[in-house]
Amino acid sequence: MSKQMITYETHEVSSHVLTPEGSQIVREGSHEARVWAALPERGSAVPLSAQDLKKAVGDEAAKVGQGRAFKSGWIAKQGNGFIKAVSEIIDTTQIELREVESSGTLAAAEKALAELRKRKLVIQRKGQWFTVHKGTNFSTSIAKPETDLTIDMLASGSWKTSSFKKYNFDADGIPTSGGALHPILKVREEIRSIFLEMGFEEMPTGNFVESGFWCFDALFVPQLHPARELQDTFYLSDPSTSLPPPSAYYERVAHVHEHGGYGSIGYRTPWSHEESNKLLLRTHTTASSAAMLYKLAAKCRGEEIDADGPGNWQPGAAKPGDDGFRPAKLFSIDRVFRNETMDATHLAEFHQVEGVVADRNLTLADLIGFMRTFFTKMGMTNLRFKPAYNPYTEPSLEIFAWHNHLEKWVEIGNSGMFRPEMLAPMGFPPDVRVHGWGIGLERPTMIRWVLFYPLVWCEQYQVACRAQDVHRKRRELAGCHVLGAT
Ligand code: PHE
Repeated sequence: MSKQMITYETHEVSSHVLTPEGSQIVREGSHEARVWAALPERGSAVPLSAQDLKKAVGDEAAKVGQGRAFKSGWIAKQGNGFIKAVSEIIDTTQIELREVESSGTLAAAEKALAELRKRKLVIQRKGQWFTVHKGTNFSTSIAKPETDLTIDMLASGSWKTSSFKKYNFDADGIPTSGGALHPILKVREEIRSIFLEMGFEEMPTGNFVESGFWCFDALFVPQLHPARELQDTFYLSDPSTSLPPPSAYYERVAHVHEHGGYGSIGYRTPWSHEESNKLLLRTHTTASSAAMLYKLAAKCRGEEIDADGPGNWQPGAAKPGDDGFRPAKLFSIDRVFRNETMDATHLAEFHQVEGVVADRNLTLADLIGFMRTFFTKMGMTNLRFKPAYNPYTEPSLEIFAWHNHLEKWVEIGNSGMFRPEMLAPMGFPPDVRVHGWGIGLERPTMIRWVLFYPLVWCEQYQVACRAQDVHRKRRELAGCHVLGAT
């Protein structure tokens, strides 16, 4: 590809140079002239014999020169020898060759030049020369064009003046070595399709940044709760505060915390606006669920439904006596953040799967029944529920699943019936119950994919077994019973 630094034109030239024989003629005259010069004057009594002529000018010149001199009428025969036929000659060959020697050509005598070439007295030399002009990109140095836009170039501003190499769309690409979905994403898709086949709607969960209000206050998590402390939650420094939440709802939430209401005595601690205002990275997707439930209760509050609120609404105007409530089944699978010290089983960023069901007069049995159905679809049939505590649910249940290969109960999630202190300020009628549960995505993924781990060598008992079977093998070989296996 031309850099357009210069443009040029090519010129063809040809010139002639003398052969050694041609040079000799320039110095000594043509063969015919030398023959003529060697002969006696016309009318001389003693002509020069052919033999003596050879001696005088050499064999070659005598042979060639004789014929040509005769043809030009310069010499004549007399008896057995030769004499001059004219008293003066013009040695055209020598004159022409002199001109060629000095100028490289014969002006206006192409035919004579061709004749000299034929006689091998001159040879043609071809050559080229160029006229050169500055091109549009003329420069005295060659700058290597950039092939990539780098962070350094953006930071220094040098991209503004850099020249970039054009993409070569015809170049062969680097062969790809194939791709595959990460196990986490596979399980995420599996779980998503279970929710969808059970009639759930996916909640929008793009807000990784939430306020203390939506992540904690709206969920009736006390403002002094240890989970809200710096060592557990990532807070934002710039910007550090959120836009205000809907003001009437904010007032009701602040009131139920500080003074109680809806049958609750509240926390009876002073309300902190700053605490509520803080921006943070959400510690659970229940922050998004709270915002969605608030939207779900819009009609119950006598407000219009938000365009991006849950869509599971029955069409038509509310009937007389209708309090505006519509049941909903919502789910989300997305990232959450906790200020954890990272180790093999704890990450600062992980995924939560969350399901929320809102309907009239739901019971704890509905929650347990739902979870059994759901986890069975995920291949986890052996479940246990243990009473637990959550500030926003009562009762609350931890969910355990039996891990066939680890041979122990693994805690996989947390669930409960949302408290009236959370639902009532949103505007839900008193007979509406909402239950919810959350599980990590990483643990079920491990339970699912651990089966495909390769064999490892157990040093202690000198056996090959699957990684997850190592400790079972140890116990078997040590003569212990494997307890609780199904
Ligand atoms: N937010 C809870 C957690 O982070 C899970 C949960 C969701 C519990 C909904 C009850 C109701 O563990």
